Amino acid sequence: MAWMDWNALEQTCMGCQRCALADGRHNVVFGVGSRDAEVMFVGEGPGENEDLQGEPFVGAAGEDLNGILSLAGLKREDVYIANVLKCRPPGNRNPAPAEVACCATYLRRQLLLVRPDVLLIMGRFAMQTLLGLGPDASIGSQRGRVHEVTIGDFGTKAVVSYHPSYLLRAPDEKAKAWEDLTLFRRLIREAGIKLAPVHHTH
Ligand code: URA
Repeated sequence: MAWMDWNALEQTCMGCQRCALADGRHNVVFGVGSRDAEVMFVGEGPGENEDLQGEPFVGAAGEDLNGILSLAGLKREDVYIANVLKCRPPGNRNPAPAEVACCATYLRRQLLLVRPDVLLIMGRFAMQTLLGLGPDASIGSQRGRVHEVTIGDFGTKAVVSYHPSYLLRAPDEKAKAWEDLTLFRRLIREAGIKLAPVHHTH
């Protein structure tokens, strides 16, 4: 897959039959946004709405991600958004290790093609996949500092934070997510990326 350009990668991914998730999907959720983006977001996998619409983060978690984007001063069309899994796990269950192993190749190639300067990793599965950590590694143990994600000769700075769906269930963690966002904004500023003014909603 290392040779693939965007078209080849997208076509291969759209027809993917590497794991059983292919059988239950309505749509492959490849990724969305600017392929030249300086900032990239990585989530876990499609939920029901994403599976039906073929686009990442369009359901409830998507509203939260839109909130994060606007708090970070970013526009959805200026960033690139992708998931570890491109097909929906039934009932939104956790991704199985074999599914992640099959699918993460697509994400790695997407990262190599976008070559972002800054990455926001949302949730445990994206974090374990991109930082090469084991199944027991928690967000709490990794958040609050800057990581380097390396793929071949490419490296990007990354911040790890809670997944928006988790924050919907655990609103007490929102203060920590705000700290993560502040760190993420700092990296964006330091990379010289222009931000839209932040509109506070309260
Ligand atoms: N959660 C994710 O991780 N990704 C989506 O696209 C939607 C919900």
